[in-house]
Amino acid sequence: MDSRVEAVLAEYHERGTREERLFSELPAEEAMRRRDEFLLCVGPDTGALLGLLVKGCGARTILEIGTSYGYSTVWLAEAARQTGGTVITLELDARKVEYARDALRRAGLESQVDFRVGDALELLPRMSGPVDFVLLDLWKDLYVPCFDLFHPKLPEGAIVVADNMLEPEIARPAAEKYRAHLRATGRYDSVLLPVGSGVEVSRRIAR
Ligand SMILES: C[S@@+](CC[C@H](N)C(=O)[O-])C[C@H]1O[C@@H](n2cnc3c(N)ncnc32)[C@H](O)[C@@H]1O
Repeated sequence: MDSRVEAVLAEYHERGTREERLFSELPAEEAMRRRDEFLLCVGPDTGALLGLLVKGCGARTILEIGTSYGYSTVWLAEAARQTGGTVITLELDARKVEYARDALRRAGLESQVDFRVGDALELLPRMSGPVDFVLLDLWKDLYVPCFDLFHPKLPEGAIVVADNMLEPEIARPAAEKYRAHLRATGRYDSVLLPVGSGVEVSRRIAR
């Protein structure tokens, strides 16, 4: 990893450490109301896992659903630079996308990323496939409807990583619903890994 990428990741880690404590101390209702102020990022272990998976499967079209401030985008784009791929990243909040764009520019990775601002539920049907790799990390009640929109675009061998399968606890019912929904298709080999906040890693298999 080059020094520009490392420097940008270090900034995120500093911000994340500062915010983590503050966020966890907020009463649940206030945390929900103010969640857009916080990074709420996948963290370094999941970031590293994303990079390994993208490089390992040589993914070229990488879809991220939930850019936020761009932390996971940096990991994906760093891997995409090695595979010769592109990260298409979807985010509702234009202000967060501006922050992410600046971070990716400073990391020297902006040309790997196609930022799309809007509601993923409206953007996904307009996207053409095939998609080799998906990071699913928007608000958790949208995992199932988003999955139904991108699943037809995935060829055999495509990888899907869904974050927040174990933490926060409040997201567990939605996470379980997502895992049950994905498994019920019978079209994925899938495993729940206790990495970061818990990730479901799934590989599209033939019918
Ligand atoms: C947990 S954060 C993503 C964190 C990011 N992947 C990272 O690791 O840095 C979830 C993001 O999903 C975005 N989001 C929520 N609903 C959305 C929707 N319908 N369409 C697009 N983005 C959405 C939120 O604005 C928020 O920034």
